[in-house]
Amino acid sequence: MKDFSPASNHKHNKVIRKEDLKEYEIIGDGADGIVYQLTSDRCIKFFFKEETQQRELEALRIGQSSPVMPRLYQYGANFIVMEYIKGFSLARYLKKHGQLTKPLVEKILNMLDELKKLGFTRYDAEIRHVLINELGDLKVIDHKRAFTSDQPVPVKLLKGFKKLGLTDEFLRFVREIRPSVYDEWKKYK
Ligand SMILES: Nc1ncnc2c1ncn2[C@@H]1O[C@H](COP(=O)(O)OP(=O)(O)O)[C@@H](O)[C@H]1O
Ligand SMILES: [Mg+2]
Repeated sequence: MKDFSPASNHKHNKVIRKEDLKEYEIIGDGADGIVYQLTSDRCIKFFFKEETQQRELEALRIGQSSPVMPRLYQYGANFIVMEYIKGFSLARYLKKHGQLTKPLVEKILNMLDELKKLGFTRYDAEIRHVLINELGDLKVIDHKRAFTSDQPVPVKLLKGFKKLGLTDEFLRFVREIRPSVYDEWKKYK
């Protein structure tokens, strides 16, 4: 693995080029960057814009106290080395299994609480950004909107369930687990 460490990069202002990463396998990409697998437990997110990197880095740093956040290892001006979450997304899980369970909904509610505890103003996550690791723990990725989106109701999450026809099932479990939350969310059905 190449050295992306702060030792070769005193002020964390090192800039890497996409070419520097061409030997690594791409594990995902999005509008803001490309993610490559570095080792069995580390990946690197290469950002198209340094501003997006700063927003995601801030959320990850603050998030290190929470088990739902990937571990942060190294970073430079346009990249972040973080924990590679081995598993699959909640979206893939639900497409495969076609249903939710009460323990899973409990985990989802706890995951959202973790984001709130960290002080994120975004109490939401897309089902493709919630990853389920090998132990069945939920981890959330892609945090650039943690502080720029002000979303007290998880509308993106609810939208994800809606697409899969699982909104009623999700809300039924929410009502069982937390009746007051259900009353707030049912209008977003
Ligand atoms: N820490 C990670 N562990 C495993 N896969 C990841 C991780 N971070 C990103 N990915 C994969 O890369 C994809 C793109 O990452 P994401 O952070 O969503 O990029 P963007 O900001 O461009 O949307 C994700 O949907 C996921 O499949
Ligand atoms: Mg994304």
